[in-house]
Amino acid sequence: MTHADAIFSDRISDVPRSFIREILKTTVRPEVISFAGGLPNRDLFPVAEIEEATLHVLRNNLKDSLQYSTSEGYLPLREYIAARYQKRHGLAVHPDEILITNGSQQGLDLLGKILLNEGDHVILEKPSYLGAIQALSLYQPRFETVPLLASGADIAALAEILQRSSPKLFYSVPNFQNPSGISYDDTTRRAVADILRAHRTFFIEDDPYGELRFRGKDQPSFRHYIPEQTILLGSFSKIVVPSFRLGWIVAPAKIMERLVVAKQAADLHTNFFCQKIIHRYLTTNDVDVHIATIRAAYGRQCDAMLQAMRKYFPPGVSFTEPEGGMFIWATLPEGQVALQLFDKAIQNNVAFVPGNPFYVTPGEYRTMRLNFSCVDPGTINAGIQRLGAII
Ligand SMILES: Cc1ncc(COP(=O)(O)O)c(C=O)c1O
Repeated sequence: MTHADAIFSDRISDVPRSFIREILKTTVRPEVISFAGGLPNRDLFPVAEIEEATLHVLRNNLKDSLQYSTSEGYLPLREYIAARYQKRHGLAVHPDEILITNGSQQGLDLLGKILLNEGDHVILEKPSYLGAIQALSLYQPRFETVPLLASGADIAALAEILQRSSPKLFYSVPNFQNPSGISYDDTTRRAVADILRAHRTFFIEDDPYGELRFRGKDQPSFRHYIPEQTILLGSFSKIVVPSFRLGWIVAPAKIMERLVVAKQAADLHTNFFCQKIIHRYLTTNDVDVHIATIRAAYGRQCDAMLQAMRKYFPPGVSFTEPEGGMFIWATLPEGQVALQLFDKAIQNNVAFVPGNPFYVTPGEYRTMRLNFSCVDPGTINAGIQRLGAII
């Protein structure tokens, strides 16, 4: 370690850099067809409605909206979220069980802060959301990973880990996971809930994509099965706009008490002005109609990608068939390495994210993440054709 490096904590030195940001830099040339991003489609942002809501907040009680506010978050917004859980899922959530956070990403940081000591065992899915690997790494846990099958977590592997290492948490994205697009079916949800109940392990259910289902039927939240052990993360990023950085945590009272303390210590409260704008937007527009538009567009784009993959990829390539969300996960034939393919792909003006950053251990991975939310069907077809030719 150099003298200059000695200034840094062990905590930050252990955290992987966001490799995706490095990759995205190579994909900005206009001639590159990029499936590497992970952004919601900006053409679907409700621009006029947000403008109206902003003007409303600017013109009514502005002094109120410019003042400090409560750490828990704007009560009418928490009431809206609670009512939506009731309406969509038949889930009883009290507004006091909700904390508004600076995106669900902050939720991950706060949970790491209040729950993890160095060396605590945490279960992640394999592959897992890179942002969770980063956020939780800061608290220096020991990660265990459970493979994902087409139906969700591998139950036998999960049971074995729980038996062996008494982890504190299982972090999961059970709906249209980032990066794999995989969702847990109901049988798997029940089985996972049963084992976690028996071991008293907490389940962090990160659900930013649950409303973006374009096929199949909604599955129950883990809060239905293990309410006292489920911590639910939600977000407006994928259904309204990401720039407001508005997300939330739903947690049982005992956890919430500590979360509020951690939130105060971190930033006192989430941007109040934006909370008021989104509340105005949500209560004066039909959000379900807006979300249906996103779902229909992403569904068409996903179908275009799947069709092109069936047509242009060699038979040795396998891939997931998501029922929602923004990503497809492909596995290359034995012997191929996704990172090497990435270099060739960039030379041929097509980009994806190699699977590597979504694993906690280094390796020569054959997997890749393909994003379909920001590319139109015609361009998707052309890009997958290019990629197929390279594979
Ligand atoms: C699984 C998952 N969790 C959390 C986040 C962070 O979302 P937010 O914008 O709410 O912080 C993302 C963003 O891509 C995500 O994919």
